[in-house]
Amino acid sequence: MPRRPSSLETAAPLIPESPTLDKLREAAAGCRACPLWRTGTQTVFGEQEDRPRAGQPRVMFVGEQPGDQEDRAGRPFVGPAGRLLDEALETVGIDRRQVYVTNAVKHFKWGEMQGKKRIHAKPAYGEIRACKPWLEAEIRVFRPDVIVCLGATAAQALLGKDFRVTKQRGQPLHSEYARVVVATVHPASILRAPKAEDRHAQLKAFIQDLRVVADLLNGLEVGEGVSAHP
Ligand code: URA
Ligand code: SF4
Repeated sequence: MPRRPSSLETAAPLIPESPTLDKLREAAAGCRACPLWRTGTQTVFGEQEDRPRAGQPRVMFVGEQPGDQEDRAGRPFVGPAGRLLDEALETVGIDRRQVYVTNAVKHFKWGEMQGKKRIHAKPAYGEIRACKPWLEAEIRVFRPDVIVCLGATAAQALLGKDFRVTKQRGQPLHSEYARVVVATVHPASILRAPKAEDRHAQLKAFIQDLRVVADLLNGLEVGEGVSAHP
């Protein structure tokens, strides 16, 4: 039996040597590096549509953690937030097959119930830290040109604790993880806005941020790290 790390450790000892996506997914399925393995049904690892035919993904979208539907399906971004993301990608012309989607935290954390739906709870910093070796290994395996942080949790994991999405959203940033990193809001936050007009405005801003990503992928300004907003 492999040694299970205690709750104070991180997933680092579980990362296989010369990892591939399949090896990582298999190893992560048994991860108990933080207490969230008990609240989630299963580890929800990242994925790319139409693999391996689609080739290496060029862009990696990092969310917070799987939601209620993702936890049941065992796949990231298959619920309402994922549908919004898919539509926005289509709007800006990013081919879904070039995209790898994953989360900063790979088990579903939830607190209350609303009917049959389990309501998501924000992961703690220690849980983000414990899970980060999985995310770093995914980045090492794929070396995407662009990484997009969806919301504060992903931005905190990859850009540091003091990063503010509200201040620097939509800006191409230099990072150790990829040629360019862009942060924007989480699609679930758009869906949570109570008023239709706010949802509409937030969706517009989200699409504007994704256009920056689409331009980067089309070869404009890649590696320059300059703002795409003149
Ligand atoms: N929200 C996320 O952050 N990730 C998912 O996979 C689904 C919803
Ligand atoms: Fe492991 Fe991440 Fe799940 Fe915690 S959330 S048990 S670190 S896979």
